[in-house]
Amino acid sequence: MTMNELGVEPSPLALLLLGQQRDADSERGTSCPGELPAASDPSLVARARAAKAALGDKVFVLGHHYQRDEVIEFADVTGDSFKLAREAAARPEASYVVFCGVHFMAESADILTGNHQQVVLPDLAAGCSMADMATAEQVAEAWDVLTDVGVADVTVPVSYMNSSAAIKAFTGRHGGTICTSSNAEVAMRWALDKGEKVLFLPDQHLGRNTAVLRLGLRLDDCVVWNPRKPNGGLTDEQIRAAKILLWKGHCSVHGRFSRECVDEVRERVPGVTVLVHPECTHEVVTTADLVGSTEFIIRTIEAAPAGSAWAIGTELNLVSRLAKAHPDKTIVFLDKTVCFCSTMNRIDLPHLVWALESLVDGHVVNRIDVDDDTTHFAKVALDQMLALPGN
Ligand code: 13P
Ligand code: SF4
Repeated sequence: MTMNELGVEPSPLALLLLGQQRDADSERGTSCPGELPAASDPSLVARARAAKAALGDKVFVLGHHYQRDEVIEFADVTGDSFKLAREAAARPEASYVVFCGVHFMAESADILTGNHQQVVLPDLAAGCSMADMATAEQVAEAWDVLTDVGVADVTVPVSYMNSSAAIKAFTGRHGGTICTSSNAEVAMRWALDKGEKVLFLPDQHLGRNTAVLRLGLRLDDCVVWNPRKPNGGLTDEQIRAAKILLWKGHCSVHGRFSRECVDEVRERVPGVTVLVHPECTHEVVTTADLVGSTEFIIRTIEAAPAGSAWAIGTELNLVSRLAKAHPDKTIVFLDKTVCFCSTMNRIDLPHLVWALESLVDGHVVNRIDVDDDTTHFAKVALDQMLALPGN
């Protein structure tokens, strides 16, 4: 196999992602019921343009930074999950919000938009393995244990945006906040001002990296709550002593980067600066030179001088786009093998065309509609995030 200019070896997985098949190891999701245009249809770009033009201001298309180029081209706004949540909330005039991202993002958009607006996810199979790692039942059981141990009253839930609407509603019911990788530090500080402990859901790495590297807590102030074990795998004493209870969840994409990747790229690319997302493990983040959210990664590369060299540890679609947009800089992917988010990649041009043309025909397909009770409490937690200082 030969490496491309990003330093990535093609793999059989990359071919699978381009097709319609399901990857046996990929995130849970439901399949798309639609009659999709063929991916080989040469008129897809023209059809997407025509459908968008026909819909005009009635449609607003949001595109997460990890989406494919062919989809990003049709996004009215691109951003990380924080920026997209704000953008969705700020467009009451759009009847349809087409969310090119994953399921939990579309749920958040539905929660933050008005009843007169409908949110569409072009492929319902675009889930998120991290979000699936915390179910509402598991979190309710954990809260019961914290109640029995006598610490629930002083524990504030902080849930990463990458969680289901049900987990967001749990967070709102219990006086907590949502956070994203852009504002996890301010969210955790707010929670520790309000209570004595944080239950951080569902990404243990973002939680640990924020607590230790941003708030200056010690590693052993944090314990990992394993939902598959009785009492989370902890003693009552460990639960009482901990400041941060980290849910045992992770991102299957960012979790692939290792310390060896960092060592290897430093040998391969002279003078390289290693820049990673905080969903990477603590070991990777502490070995790297810089850590920050998707928006931080983009800003850092935009501000970097010509001739500088960067190895980036985040989703491959974004890294490829940054490399194309900055030919005056050396930009390589931190891993040597392919690392797309397989569910983000499920949104492709055929699905987007199908969703937009269906709207033109008066059919709302793949609507994401969160029930009223869940919406109410999830909105409490999302509004709390939007009200955090500095947002
Ligand atoms: P942000 O969009 O908050 O950077 O999160 C990254 C991610 O994994 C989205 O699924
Ligand atoms: Fe989920 Fe990770 Fe994909 Fe984001 S990149 S959608 S956290 S699996």
